[in-house]
Amino acid sequence: MATRDEVFEALTRVMDPELGKDIVKLGMVKGVTVDGDAVRVDVELTTPACPLKHVIRRDVEAAVRALPGVGAVHVELGSRVASRQKEKGERLPSVKNIIAVGAGKGGVGKSTVAVNLAVALAQSGATVGLLDADVYGPSVPILLGLGGPGVEPIRVGDKDMMAPIEAHGLKVMSMGMLLGQGDAVVWRGPMLHKAVSQFLEEVNWGDLDYLVVDLPPGTGDVQISLANLVPISAAIVVTTPQDVAFADVRRALKMFEITKVPVLGLVENMASFTCPGCGAVHHPFGDGRVKALAQASGVAYLGEIPLDPRVSTNGDLGLPIVVADPEGIPAGAIRRLAEAVAGGLSVLNLRPA
Ligand SMILES: Nc1ncnc2c1ncn2[C@@H]1O[C@H](COP(=O)(O)OP(=O)(O)O)[C@@H](O)[C@H]1O
Ligand SMILES: [Mg+2]
Repeated sequence: MATRDEVFEALTRVMDPELGKDIVKLGMVKGVTVDGDAVRVDVELTTPACPLKHVIRRDVEAAVRALPGVGAVHVELGSRVASRQKEKGERLPSVKNIIAVGAGKGGVGKSTVAVNLAVALAQSGATVGLLDADVYGPSVPILLGLGGPGVEPIRVGDKDMMAPIEAHGLKVMSMGMLLGQGDAVVWRGPMLHKAVSQFLEEVNWGDLDYLVVDLPPGTGDVQISLANLVPISAAIVVTTPQDVAFADVRRALKMFEITKVPVLGLVENMASFTCPGCGAVHHPFGDGRVKALAQASGVAYLGEIPLDPRVSTNGDLGLPIVVADPEGIPAGAIRRLAEAVAGGLSVLNLRPA
């Protein structure tokens, strides 16, 4: 029979490949039970969307099974999302990570990516909010099938607040839910700042592992206000693979640098198309161009989401593709993106300040 100490010792040889340390040192081993020749190990991941959970499970099993006297090994994977928001500021302490989804220009699929990323994180088991901060062109209500204004005023303690709307497992708030259809926002900087701060402080977000923020395209007042109001954990920048988009991407990256928001990387959208007839994959604008841009800009390439008409037809119906066709290729690509984002945040959260 193996002892608990022997099991712990064996587990010090299991590395978290992303965090670069062993899982005992990382405090991820929450329990070891030895019952005859059966061993149970409880491991706590830093996110339910951990891209390496299969690797960690496999390595834990192998390490424990290699001990003499061990028969059955049961690995129980749980998760607790890490955060460093508390040390950074007072606002929104109940939100563990704020993920800004930006783009150099409009129409590249920023909102589609933000919505599907948020739903994919929620599907993995995380508690997720989605803030549509694209005050000029709020499209989250359409993409999630939320009809008309439906925001309820509520009282939280001694404060008047707004309750976010629940949709597809998300807590959602959007300017589009406050404006009537067809109303336009023609506000200037100070009013936008006020609106963003209300979205953060007067919405009853509650405890969230991730708050995904759909930013307006470009580099304007809302982005600056948001970065000044709350510590944004990280940003991703969505782009299509055309040259006309690239100059704007560089500007967006510069803006995040100036506002001290770490950029997790670029997401390439609508770069490839699979012919429904013959299955051949086409890259109408060329292959590998966003990868090259990412490399030249010193940020990671987080992956690509193919052009697929079902993404937009379902989006128009209020169905994110990860809900409408969870087994399809675009949904798989979004899940991998969600894992890359969640994994990247875990790494950032572990780094010394
Ligand atoms: N991968 C994709 N495949 C097909 N259509 C897409 C894809 N991504 C986005 N779209 C469509 O492109 C249009 C613009 O997307 P949207 O998310 O609104 O862009 P943005 O927020 O950047 O302005 C929408 O009609 C959307 O459905
Ligand atoms: Mg949009």
